[in-house]
Amino acid sequence: MMTDILIVATNNEAKFREILQIAEVYGILARMPAVKTDVQEGVVSYEENALLKASSATAQSGVDALGEDSGIEIAALGGFPGVISARFVEGSDQDRNNALLERMKTIEPARRLAVFKACVVISLVNGGHLTGYGELRGRITEVPEGGNGFGYDPIFIPDGFDRTLGLLDVEEKNRISHRRKAIESAVRQYRDYKNTVKKQG
Ligand code: IMP
Repeated sequence: MMTDILIVATNNEAKFREILQIAEVYGILARMPAVKTDVQEGVVSYEENALLKASSATAQSGVDALGEDSGIEIAALGGFPGVISARFVEGSDQDRNNALLERMKTIEPARRLAVFKACVVISLVNGGHLTGYGELRGRITEVPEGGNGFGYDPIFIPDGFDRTLGLLDVEEKNRISHRRKAIESAVRQYRDYKNTVKKQG
């Protein structure tokens, strides 16, 4: 029975649909919030930003809420751009892809390793929270390829694949993505928490 409701602290439709699909598998109904979900993101960690988004939505709505934060870390650039992936250069996703490729132009193929990281936090009305993490390892191409997905998808080839995420369809990407792993981990913990609360009540 689908009784547990979780609101999702995002304005991003694509992220929301992915979270909705996974939550449904665990008997949880995800909703878009009727609250403001833009928060001033920090530069410290994905966890901090995900918790900020989730707890702001819980405070405004009075319901358990899910927040997500993610980024890409490039080994040869010391983990840059990481938590500032969405905003290290003003402009479009394409501008940021070009800026990264420019910074990496002298880096040989074997050293173009990168990892996408995601953190999902579910904040609870009782004041606690649950945290899930996910990673997707791969490498950065020399030129962008493919128009699917968003962000750095056209310049990232996941391990075990020979094409960029920009050339994979959304279902293929969502089976392996960092976000999927983080959502699944947090939502599983949430289902277990709800079951425990129900048994006690
Ligand atoms: P956030 O919305 O503040 O978490 O920003 C995350 C940023 O990291 C996005 O704007 C993208 O630039 C990048 N990013 C995170 N996940 C992905 C992904 O699955 N594909 C491509 N880029 C991503």
